[in-house]
Parts: sequence; C-alpha cells; structure tokens
Amino acid sequence: MEANTASNWFLLSMVLFLSLQLTQCSVTYDRKALIINGQRRILFSGSIHYPRSTPQMWESLIQKAKDGGLDAIDTYVFWNLHEPSPGNYNFKGRYDLVRFIKMVQKAGLYMHLRIGPYVCAEWNFGGFPVWLKYVPGISFRTDNKPFKLAMQKFTQKIVQMMKDEKLFESQGGPIILSQIENEFQPVSKVIGTAGHAYMTWAAKMAVGMGTGVPWVMCKEDDVPDPVINTCNGFYCDYFSPNKPYKPTLWTEAWSGWFTEFGGPIHQRPVQDLAFAVARFIQKGGSFVNYYMYHGGTNFGRTAGGPFITTSYDYDAPIDEYGLIRQPKYSHLKELHKAVKLCERALLTADPTITSLGSYEKAHVFSTKSGHCAAFLSNYNPKSSARVTFNNKHYNLPPWSISILPDCKNEVFNTAKVRVQTSQVKMLPTNVRFLSWDTFNEEISSANDDSTITVFGLLDQLNLTRDASDYLWYKTSVDISPSESFLHQGQHPTITVQSAGHAMHLFINGRLSGSAFGTRKKLRFTYTGNVDLKAGANIISLLSIAVGLPNNGPHFETRSTGIIGPVVIHGLDHGERDLSRQKWSYKVGLRGESMKLGSPNSFSSVGWMQGSLMAHKQQPLTWYKTSFDAPEGDEPLALDMTGMGKGQVWINGKSIGRFWNVYANGNCNGCSYSGTFRPIIKCQFGCGHPTQQWYHIPRSWLKQTKNLLVVFEEIGGDVSRIGIVKRSVTSNSETSIVCAEVSEYHPSIENWRVESDGKSEALDMPETSLHCAPGQSISAINFASFGTPSGTCGSFQHGTCHAPSSHAVLEKECIGQQECLVTISNSSFGADPCPNVTKKLSVEAVCASTNTTIARTNSRL
Ligand code: GAL
Repeated sequence: MEANTASNWFLLSMVLFLSLQLTQCSVTYDRKALIINGQRRILFSGSIHYPRSTPQMWESLIQKAKDGGLDAIDTYVFWNLHEPSPGNYNFKGRYDLVRFIKMVQKAGLYMHLRIGPYVCAEWNFGGFPVWLKYVPGISFRTDNKPFKLAMQKFTQKIVQMMKDEKLFESQGGPIILSQIENEFQPVSKVIGTAGHAYMTWAAKMAVGMGTGVPWVMCKEDDVPDPVINTCNGFYCDYFSPNKPYKPTLWTEAWSGWFTEFGGPIHQRPVQDLAFAVARFIQKGGSFVNYYMYHGGTNFGRTAGGPFITTSYDYDAPIDEYGLIRQPKYSHLKELHKAVKLCERALLTADPTITSLGSYEKAHVFSTKSGHCAAFLSNYNPKSSARVTFNNKHYNLPPWSISILPDCKNEVFNTAKVRVQTSQVKMLPTNVRFLSWDTFNEEISSANDDSTITVFGLLDQLNLTRDASDYLWYKTSVDISPSESFLHQGQHPTITVQSAGHAMHLFINGRLSGSAFGTRKKLRFTYTGNVDLKAGANIISLLSIAVGLPNNGPHFETRSTGIIGPVVIHGLDHGERDLSRQKWSYKVGLRGESMKLGSPNSFSSVGWMQGSLMAHKQQPLTWYKTSFDAPEGDEPLALDMTGMGKGQVWINGKSIGRFWNVYANGNCNGCSYSGTFRPIIKCQFGCGHPTQQWYHIPRSWLKQTKNLLVVFEEIGGDVSRIGIVKRSVTSNSETSIVCAEVSEYHPSIENWRVESDGKSEALDMPETSLHCAPGQSISAINFASFGTPSGTCGSFQHGTCHAPSSHAVLEKECIGQQECLVTISNSSFGADPCPNVTKKLSVEAVCASTNTTIARTNSRL
C-alpha cells in the first residue's frame, strides 16, 4: 500500500515536473515539426539580413514578407559589425539587431536567429572580425582554446542581449529557433577529429545557454542531441535529420544566387523553386526558410568572397531595392497558402506514396479524423502528364507538383504561374551634377612617416588589418645607363605574383598596368612591359583587397597581396629578382586618411575646383560633387557607367565598391524544368557590366546639397555618372495574364480552413483576371471551358470545348482592369461534355491605358 502511494506520488510529481517543463519551454519539437506552445506548425520563413538594408526599410520589408505568406524572418548575426575591436560593441543604426527583431515581433512574425558566429553569407571574412585572426595561438573553427573562448563570449553576449529584451519565445518573444555554427560538415571532413570535438563542444555550449528554444546546425549530420541538423540547398527532399525524433527543417532554400564581379546574374525560375519546396513538404518537411527573401546590398566593404558584388539582390522575392519581384513573390505566396490548407493533414499523417506512372507519384496524407491532402507530382523534365487519381484526371505540367488540400481539387500547381512578370526599369531623374572637384591621390611617397620599410614582401592583411582595401608596396630599381634596351628602343618586362585580389602597377608615378584575380582563382601573375629610365626608378604596386574570403577550411590563413616573386626580365644580366630587396609599405590611401568621403573631411584638403580634369581618364583620382535629392519616393541608384573601379560615398556613408567589369558566363537559356544549378543555366547579362547600378538608400539623402564622393582607381568619366530611379511595372505596354480554374477548383482565395482543420472550398469557383493598375484587358488570346491542356502561353483546346468560351470572356473582360467569370455550365450556355470535370483556361492581354507607372514601396 505504502509502496503504491509512493509510486503515485512519484508519478504525480513527474507529471507536474513535465508540465512545468512544458510551460517553461514553449518551443519543442518532435519528428514532424517544431511545436510552438503545444502546436505542431508548418512554417515558412525568409532571410532578411538587417545590415543589408536600412532601418527605414525594415518595416516595409517585414510587412511584405508577412503578406507573402511567411511566418518567420531569419537573419544571421554579423560579429564583425558588432565588435569592430575587442570588447567595443556597436549595435546602432543598421546594426541594431534588437530593433530589427522587435519589428519582426510587432508584425506578428517569428524569428530564427542564426548566431553563427561564423556566417559565411558572402560577407567579409564570413562575419569574423579581422582582429580575431591576430589573437595569439588562434585557429578558427576547430578545437582551439582561444577561438572557442572568443566564440563563446560573443555567442553569450548575443544570447544575453536577447534574454534581457525577452526576445526568446520561451520568454514571450518571437525567437523560436537559433543556429550555432554554419555548414560545418564540409570543414569537419577536412580537419578530422579536432573538427568533431569542436562541433560537439559548440553544440553543448549553445544548449547550455538555456534559451528555451531549440538550436540547429545546418549541414552538420553528426550534431549531438538535442540540436537539430538541418538542410541547405537548391533541393532538400533527399534530406532526413540524424534522429527519427527530429523534424525535417530546410534552413536555406536558395531562392536565387549571389553575383561576383566579372560573373553573370543568376536567376532561379519560381516554378523550380516552388517545385523544390513542394517536394520537400510532400516528403514530410515542415520548415522552409528562403535564402534570401530579401538579399539587399553589401554596403561599405562588407562584401566577402572575394569579388562579391555590392548588390546582394539574389533574385529574391523582394528585390535589392525593397520592391516586390514578380512572379516570384506572388507565386510563392500562393504556394504557401496551398500548403497551409493541407497543414492539419501534413502534420498528423505520414504520406502514402503511390506511383501514377513512370515519373508520376501521389503523396497522400490521410488522417483518421478524415483530413486528406494530396500532392501529385510529375518529375519528368520534358513532358506533361495526364494522371488519374481517385478516379479523376489531372494534367501535370513537366517538373511540377499539384496540391490538392481535400484530395480532390487542385488549388495550386508549381508550374502554373498565374502572376505577371514584373518589368524593371531604371529611369533617369532630374539630378544633374554641375561640376566636379578633383583630388589626385598621390602615388605613395617613400618618405612619408606612415610608411614601414623592410626587406622582402609582406602579407597585405598583416599590415592593413583590413582598415583599408589598399596597400602600397614600393621599391626602387637602379638602371645603368649602359643597359642595351635603353639604346635599342626596347622595354624590359616585369612579372609580379600576387595572392590577390587586384593590383595596379605604377612606374615612376605613371600607371603601367593592372591585373585582377577571380573568385575561383585569387592568385594571379601580372606580366607587362616597363618603361624604365637610366638611374633610379620607383616601382609602386597598389595591391587591393576586394572582400576577404568567407568560406573554406581555415580561410583565415589565406594570404592577400603581393607575395612575389617580383622580377624584371630583359636586362643585360638577365633577370633581376626584386622580392628580397628593401620595400616600403603604406596602408591605405591619402584620401582615406583625410576622410575625403566624409562631409567632415579635413578642411585643408586641396580639392581642385570644378576642374576640366574631371573629364580626363585619370587613375587614382577622387571626385566630389553635390546634388539635390530627386523628388518622389522611388528607390534610387547611382549609374556608374563610364567609371572603372573604386568606391563611392554619399554624405559620408559608403555605398560600396564599384567595378565596371564585364560579365563572363553562359547565357544560353533558362528552362524552369530540370535540376537547377547556377553554374549550368539561367545566367543573364553576359557581355554587360556585372553591376551597373548601386543602391542609394533614400534615407541617406537630405533634400539639398548631398555630397557625392567617388574614388576611381583606374580612370573613368564622371560626366557619365547619373542618378536613376527604379520603377517596376507589369510589362509597360502589354502583358499576358493567364488563369486556369477547374470546375471544382476555386481560386485559392476561395478556400478556407474550417475549425476542425479541414480545408473546404467556398462558393462557386471563379476565374479572375487582373491587370496592373493603369492597364486593362485588351484581348483574349485563348479561352476554353472544357478540357484544355498546356500552360500559360501555350494553351490548347482539348476534346471537350464550349464554343461560347471566347465570346463569354470577351464580353465580360474586354476593357476591364479586372474581371470575374463564374465557372459553371450555365455561364457557357450548356454543359459541353457531361460527366467530365472541366476547367477554364484563359490567356488575356493587358494593355496600358497610360504609360509606365513608377512603383514605390506600396504593395503590389
Ligand atoms: C551557404 C551558406 C550561406 C551562403 C550560401 C550561398 O552555403 O550557408 O551563408 O553563403 O551558401 O549564398
């Protein structure tokens, strides 16, 4: 009896203990999903990195993300911004992480905080502060005491900040998930046991911080419990977590890809992205984060790589400027709605998979309580398929999935895009630069007191500590008057070996040539003639970093700068190796030390006023002018056509690096179907400058007298610089809109989830066609109520077709900005084929009622 009472007490206290745990810890997980306040959830999330836009843009970006059907925002935390020198923290302005998270909270969204603190992200040094490299005895991302100490200290700092502000979900805040490290497995494979020890330490360290929300590690299959391993990639349906009791989470669904200077623009068709997401969900995945949802801008010198462009647009659903990118944004929004209609079935049942053909499958989620959702897939990249499922026929375009939230009616197909493509234009503004002042950067003088002189060649980062992109290497060469080349009108040559990333060579103060590495091949050799005279010749090499590496094992140990040898060839005594002789070094440019980019630069600076020199293609020149802000609130950009390479500032804020380098790539087509890889398809802009426009945040401008400063390395024509505004329209003159609605397939707006979790269609299905504001329907290219096939742009009549289809659509729609047609036999006079499920497919033309409409931050 006593024993029984004791065991009852034990049970009771266990129950109490467990329920206490539950109330304290509001985010948990099981094999199906993250569980927030007791409920499993399917969550869509999007990466928006706070320093890649301005606080003035955050609210609108977050709202657009919410309107696009996202439940959560994801960001990395950028250590090098927050701790520029050991123990000095900065969380102001664009770096105000807490403010960003509170805006997410205010919008009613969740947050995934990827602390890292290694972040990769095409960000300078992968987010590590450069001073970290110089901590004695340090070795990054391995079982190394100084590194682990520093990493723990920063992680602790961020976690404590979040706790103090009550931002974890366990405290009533929005953070439901945190990440430690980032894609460690590829590095771990290279470094072996020390890597494994470090990774398990990192997991334990993070869990020990007691945030009350789960931690994840992406791309790290060995991660110990309770940390969840997650997938990153273009497709993640192959992925399963390392334990059967963990949910399947996709932390980076790549919505596009980044750009590097000299490379093309990569785009990922939304049909393929939606297909990838639907594949993941049908496999049982329950969390998808788009990387990126808004890519934004690498302002200042934050771009990594090296060679990552200032634009980090990423072909994301919200473009670099904060405008909605169509059809990506709305097609994904429809996908999110369609998946949410299936949520209850997806989260309760496991899929039953049946084959519907050689490439076709049905994934059916059917619950005991009567919920049923089906995903019908066609993996054939070439042909569409007509499949029969539950005695009904469905047309599946190539490489697509149809979603049936009630196992009967298709509400969405990943390849049927019903949204128009937005057309982007960069339009001129009324800004004119009246005159440009110039300042010639001096080709470093050896006698300057800030120079260091040593024998031999030094690593660039060792000297600059990344305080500047620039390092001067300077030496002198004596040429005897008897050298034969002086008398034969010939030139010796020079070879210079650099570890990266770019270099300009000056002989006796004159630009003699330049050389550049690439992202894949940082090291390069410069070879060129040199114009040497008898006597002393000054050889000045300006070595330039173009963003520090952000990935690969021990990227911190890679060298930068002129590593040598530096050799002169063609002298009477053969080669002369200059590598070991005396070199003097100077960090940065004179203009940088005088803060020329800033409105508070030293007043003593000798700018040459309104000079004609501005039109001469002079290397190493600073230019300044001022301008009044253009009217309106459209996003703005600098058009840097005509310039070479350098950096640009507005009112002292760095817009970033510019480089007018032409894109090399294979711009040979972009079919949405078939496996997407940025290196094999969907490249754009070959033969054009990789980046022509540089985002100017509106909030950085005053109404009048804005200071624009440009530093040009090679030579450019400032008279060709302009300020343009970004306008987004649906094809300015005409555009095509399509709709496909089944008799039993109301548009997705007409569905709702009932209180018991079942999804049901409301009312009769309708087709709705919308033209953008300022446009109206001018023609019906195709209309068929019956069994038409094909997709937008290539619809075809089927065996069943109501002859009145075209006339009905014309009557209802021509001249209207939008029109609705009820899908029923009576709308089309009579039933064209009884007992057959019919649909209406329409392709219409929208034409402008006036010309281009500039879009600002308003929602589309
Ligand atoms: C991933 C990495 C991200 C980003 C992405 C490419 O591997 O985790 O930080 O670099 O690649 O954009």
